[in-house]
Amino acid sequence: MSVIGVLTAGGDCPGLNAVIRGVTVRATKTHDAEVVGIKNGWEGLMDGDTMPLDRDAVRGILVRGGTILGSSRMDPYVHGDGYASCAKTIKRNGIDSLVVIGGDGTLRSALRLSEEGLPIIGVPKTIDNDINGTDTTFGFSTAVQIATEAIDRLVSTAESHNRVIVVEVMGRTKGWIATYAGIAGGADAILIPEVPYQLEEIAEIVRRRHRRGQRYSIVVVGEGVEPPPGTADQEVRKDAFGFDRLGGVGYHVAGALEEMTGFETRVSVLGHIQRGGTPSAFDRVLATRLGVAAADYAVAGQTGVMAAVRGLEIVPVPMEEACAEIRGVPDDIYDTAATFFE
Ligand code: F6P
Repeated sequence: MSVIGVLTAGGDCPGLNAVIRGVTVRATKTHDAEVVGIKNGWEGLMDGDTMPLDRDAVRGILVRGGTILGSSRMDPYVHGDGYASCAKTIKRNGIDSLVVIGGDGTLRSALRLSEEGLPIIGVPKTIDNDINGTDTTFGFSTAVQIATEAIDRLVSTAESHNRVIVVEVMGRTKGWIATYAGIAGGADAILIPEVPYQLEEIAEIVRRRHRRGQRYSIVVVGEGVEPPPGTADQEVRKDAFGFDRLGGVGYHVAGALEEMTGFETRVSVLGHIQRGGTPSAFDRVLATRLGVAAADYAVAGQTGVMAAVRGLEIVPVPMEEACAEIRGVPDDIYDTAATFFE
């Protein structure tokens, strides 16, 4: 009987539990395999912290946010000696193949482990939707829905008080959440890291709206945009993976906009609300399909591939593709959003 290990690493994301359930039910029921859950991402693999996963263990988790396995930003190549640090847990549990559910940093380490000889299947995850090699990632639809609902609410209060509201959303160095939530929420301007901006142009949009009698404006800002010149003096902090800890640029944009336009401007930083809670129906279905595919690939003896979305299909794609680049918002989608900046 083959044994499949599963871990979730990096920031959590709505749909992780649906993937865990998909892997577990497919592996145990369809393939008569055994599944071992590894707790707290790579940390659990290095420390030997595991739990058995069977049909009962994953009952009811489809709709739950977060991950029943826990996650961490530990990494075997940053905080350990790569494969050597994980070998004991793999041996003790008789793991034949490991399903790694994670973002680009996690998949990069997964790829290295697979090159060191551990059979690995990746499942790309992030609310940021920026992983290369797959058309989309689970979690993104939920984050966009939450951000859109927030914008809808902010419109009504901005309108009542004749205010400008700057809404800062997550997404790291790419503006997928900002662009999609901005389009869906009818934003008056959207700033994303991929597109350099002149704040004067945004200020002019705001002034024009006020001249026309529309005395409120909603400006969506991706957390990874450059602060307006001369507004940010703090050093950027790093997380355990070495990534920049972002958040707060909205305050710099709002301060500068208020100064330039003279209109009262407020800020709403949505933060981790975008990652918490139950996944959307779309993400539940996508995550389930990815989990089922990952179990199939693992049992079939594939390695070094991730379950990816191509059109309507789920297909195995070399994990190298995920590591090749971070995928930004295509020009035509941003151009569609910009059509409505007025
Ligand atoms: O990558 C997902 C993400 O939610 C980013 O959008 C955000 O910058 C980051 O993770 C936040 O990470 P943490 O939970 O470590 O603060």
